[in-house]
Amino acid sequence: MNKILYKIIETADASPSLEWLATGEAMHNRLGAFSESLVLYGSLVKKSIEMCKRARIISVGLGLGYNELISFAQCLALNIDDIYLESFEENNDLRTQWLSWLDDQPTPLCTVYDKIAELCEKEFHLSPKGLLKSTIKTALDNKNLVLRDRLDLNTKFSQKFHCVLYDPFSAKTNPDCWNEDFLKDFFNKVCERICFVSTYAAKGNLKRSLKALGFKVENPPGFGGKRQCTIATRNNSFQ
Ligand SMILES: C[S@@+](CC[C@H](N)C(=O)[O-])C[C@H]1O[C@@H](n2cnc3c(N)ncnc32)[C@H](O)[C@@H]1O
Repeated sequence: MNKILYKIIETADASPSLEWLATGEAMHNRLGAFSESLVLYGSLVKKSIEMCKRARIISVGLGLGYNELISFAQCLALNIDDIYLESFEENNDLRTQWLSWLDDQPTPLCTVYDKIAELCEKEFHLSPKGLLKSTIKTALDNKNLVLRDRLDLNTKFSQKFHCVLYDPFSAKTNPDCWNEDFLKDFFNKVCERICFVSTYAAKGNLKRSLKALGFKVENPPGFGGKRQCTIATRNNSFQ
């Protein structure tokens, strides 16, 4: 039997997250997993769709799928059906459970995913109930949503993206994803000339990698009292 490594917690805005039993670390900000995802990632998804009139999104760290659900909800709200989203998750259990949920199979995190879908439908005024999940399932069947495993230096991409939601664990627990050479190579491979990048972190490595690729980098205050996050923008004048 698989050992359970986390417990479900409720964050301050009543949205769910996971806490790792070994370290006590939560997957999202305890002040609000949904609010954090909307502020850090949802706003950039909207900007990229409004500017490019299509959604080309790469998400690193599926986790509970907040960013994926918010992206599809935003597309429904803006009436955009030209969407391609590629999502990476190295944790096999999280990947499998999310796919089982989409397939209406019973899975321990089912109620968590249902709650996130409900929050998104409410936030983006979507109806009828269940529209978001069925839209995502269709996208998966049509390969407009592709779920992949671990992102690393050898990962190959079939296309570039207008929006990068970079949400792996922090450099402390996941140094490979924050190394400057890795970041430069990754952004170079995945970013379209018009591209928006968002992440909760504001490390020097990250800023240097993005600036070297022609991005304008801003570091507004992070969610819930965190000092800074990163929003980077590149327009088509970059050669
Ligand atoms: C902060 S959580 C992401 C939360 C998520 N965005 C959500 O909406 O719930 C970080 C996730 O990144 C995954 N991860 C970390 N490094 C990764 C890598 N190199 N490739 C793919 N996934 C990775 C972890 O397993 C974890 O589920």
